[in-house]
Amino acid sequence: VSGRVGLWLVGVRGSVGTTAVAGLAASRAGMAAATGLVTEHQAMQDVPLPELSSIVMGGHDITTTSLTKRAEQLVAAGVLPAGLPLACADELEAAESRVRHGYVTEDGDQYSQVLRLADDLREFARQEQLDHVVVINVSSTEPIPAANAAHESLAALQDAWARGEAPLPVSSAYAAAAFLAGCAFADFTPSTGARLPALVELANRQGMPWAGSDGKTGETLLKSVLAPMFDMRALRVRSWAGTNLLGGGDGATLADPEACASKTTSKVRGLQAMLGHPVDGPVHIDYIPDLGDWKTAWDHISFEGFLGTRMTLQFTWQGCDSSLAAPLVLDLGRLLALALSRGVAGPVSALGFFFKDPVASDEHRLVQQWQALLTWAAESADGERA
Ligand SMILES: NC(=O)c1ccc[n+]([C@@H]2O[C@H](COP(=O)([O-])OP(=O)(O)OC[C@H]3O[C@@H](n4cnc5c(N)ncnc54)[C@H](O)[C@@H]3O)[C@@H](O)[C@H]2O)c1
Repeated sequence: VSGRVGLWLVGVRGSVGTTAVAGLAASRAGMAAATGLVTEHQAMQDVPLPELSSIVMGGHDITTTSLTKRAEQLVAAGVLPAGLPLACADELEAAESRVRHGYVTEDGDQYSQVLRLADDLREFARQEQLDHVVVINVSSTEPIPAANAAHESLAALQDAWARGEAPLPVSSAYAAAAFLAGCAFADFTPSTGARLPALVELANRQGMPWAGSDGKTGETLLKSVLAPMFDMRALRVRSWAGTNLLGGGDGATLADPEACASKTTSKVRGLQAMLGHPVDGPVHIDYIPDLGDWKTAWDHISFEGFLGTRMTLQFTWQGCDSSLAAPLVLDLGRLLALALSRGVAGPVSALGFFFKDPVASDEHRLVQQWQALLTWAAESADGERA
């Protein structure tokens, strides 16, 4: 991909957003190794991805805490290395100057707000002389929206907008703005985003690629490796119970049972598909403010072997969520820029590797997803060279 690429984060001042901005600045300053960046993997070295140095970051948010202040908080929490905010002060301030006020449903007439968000994106592209812009939602998880006839087709959505209604959940309003402004879109959260027939139609009409949903960074990542193992060895999983303890802004949002329902729904979807049979797989999330950005997942898997002998596997995962998520956000920015440069439109199922609830795919097994990603990237490379 030649030229300059814009990466626009919805929720840019959150933990994941700030870590992505600070991480990109640090890697440009030679302060960060490529650890955690899938697009820097040896297997991707022939893929013509945009250079990290060609990426310009901006975003929408509704909090007034600046990126620099948030980066300092993340240093205090042990997520970012001490000294990084000072060493990357210019880049953080430059990104901060590109942050625009976000959208909440109380803002009134939804259609004009969507047009305003789209204008922000066009202005970003124009001012920074960008060839491609990718929008990624890393804002707070929203509840599952109520069904609405305006979700079912673009014509119905446009009619509802014309009547002054606000039929879209916030994440979908951002997706609509992205498509209208000629940008790719990815939802790193379990929110609705582009997953409505009306928006699928809009993306196709505008010829824009999109991906989602809900970044796969911890417990579900392990499930997508371990569940296929049980299946391949013909061991029967009887139950798979997961408990997650997390703090931070994400934990505070998920303390709300309605937002939590989006997350737990997204987390359980794949297990049955990977095991090939229904399984009791409850997932529980608790908000423990003291844990900050660190997440502990404890999974208890009960299974049986030959002659019905009962056995148990338990694992404990202690991850720093933002450090796991931020490089994947940069990866998605680079890969969707490649999709844009190739003229790919619609859901990009090959990016399912990154998500708990992959769009346009029932494949949840990590190894198969990795192979699908590499195949897609190689084909994209051929498309670029042709
Ligand atoms: N960290 C991970 O490993 C991981 C994995 C999968 C998904 N996610 C998802 O990523 C998202 C971000 O996580 P986080 O830890 O950075 O959360 P966070 O609470 O620190 O950040 C969320 C940001 O979104 C902003 N925001 C809220 N409403 C907004 C709106 N209407 N418009 C624009 N901005 C808005 C908030 O002000 C905040 O800055 C969450 O939805 C989380 O579920 C994270």
